Amino acid sequence: MKTPEEFLEGHGFTLAGDIDKQSLIAAFVDEMEAGLKGEKSSLLMVPTFVGTNGKVKEGDKAVVLDAGGTNFRGAIVSIPPHIEERQNQSMPGIKGRVGKEEFYNAFAAEVKRLEGKATVPKIGWCFSYPAEATPALDAKLLRWTKGVDAPEIVGDKVGEELLKRLGGGEIAIVNDTVATLLAAKAMEGDRRYSSYIGFILGTGTNAAYVEKNRNIAKLSGLDPDGSMIINAESGAFDKMATSDFDKALDEKTNNKGQQIFEKLISGAYLGTIGLEIYKAAAKEGLFGAKTASAIAGLGALETMDFDNFTAKFKKEGRDNVLDSIFANADDARMARRLGLPVFERAAMLTAIHLAAFAIKSGEGLSADEPIAINADGSTYYKTRAIAFGDTVKAALDDMLVMRRNVHYEIVPQVDDAPMVGAAIAAMMK
Ligand code: BGC
Repeated sequence: MKTPEEFLEGHGFTLAGDIDKQSLIAAFVDEMEAGLKGEKSSLLMVPTFVGTNGKVKEGDKAVVLDAGGTNFRGAIVSIPPHIEERQNQSMPGIKGRVGKEEFYNAFAAEVKRLEGKATVPKIGWCFSYPAEATPALDAKLLRWTKGVDAPEIVGDKVGEELLKRLGGGEIAIVNDTVATLLAAKAMEGDRRYSSYIGFILGTGTNAAYVEKNRNIAKLSGLDPDGSMIINAESGAFDKMATSDFDKALDEKTNNKGQQIFEKLISGAYLGTIGLEIYKAAAKEGLFGAKTASAIAGLGALETMDFDNFTAKFKKEGRDNVLDSIFANADDARMARRLGLPVFERAAMLTAIHLAAFAIKSGEGLSADEPIAINADGSTYYKTRAIAFGDTVKAALDDMLVMRRNVHYEIVPQVDDAPMVGAAIAAMMK
């Protein structure tokens, strides 16, 4: 009988230890460069018109909206970071299709609830989908990710549309990676960093970093000595091999053929990869007959259940579908051996991706001025199957410090970084 590793490899699944790190870093950097020149690239490399030197007045309060996962939030955010009046609700379009009015009205109602409680006129909106940024910080939605079903919004300048429904006002929209980068910069105190990366690994994934204007060849008229934050939309990277399981998953998504990298590493998808692996393994005889028939009846697998099961963690008050699937200890052990590589691959790809951004920034060349990486998101911090952050760091030490003498620091997590960063964008002078 095949080992679980042989089975995975037979389906084109590259185990973490077998990933060709150096050539994948090079492919990431090539795609970034092409995107900055406006040439064909899987990375959008969106210039954000936001720099890292903006000033914020302490005590200011802004109305903030945060849309980017299964929930959207509204709150009043002040600096130093403090959040009041927070309310969570389901993201419009996540539980079925919504039209224009239903979509914008959900956000307009949140702003109205919070109106009058802010001290700055601009609304800060953390909008975490691929969008072109305008110099006035509006966001033109290019396509949806993470399963949002609201096709009428694609192509809209979402800020302008929201303000129309509010009868006027001002708004600053930033991606969650940009907000996370800004939040890290605002919280640095007297630490010195040579550059900054904002990284999200939650429902979806993406990174933003600081680029020298002279390298942003697709924009003309910029001060060549300046710099700005680039939202890479790195979840769309597609220059790596994918397995049969990844392909089967992609077929079932409503953004087929897009966000290929995101579908290998982020929370919206890891459970489904697990399910595809179990189904194929059952067909090929890696489980006993009873387990195989139980797996055949399994319709969906959430990442949280896949992760908890792989970690042998029983979450109180939550029934895990996998607990009743495996007929005996051998099958359960097999399932864990098949599951672990999914998380290990995600961590290795995360590290490779972060290494590429650190290298592209051209900074971090001495140990006393490292590049600050602010990571955020549930998959990065809450995965249990492996020590995710430690695995990423070990790989980064190898790829960046040992091999290239590029220094970095994963900075302490800033609570609610996307909201805090959106408030900073709204307040920035
Ligand atoms: C979106 C990005 C976002 C990332 C993390 C991706 O699906 O395209 O804009 O930054 O998820 O939330």
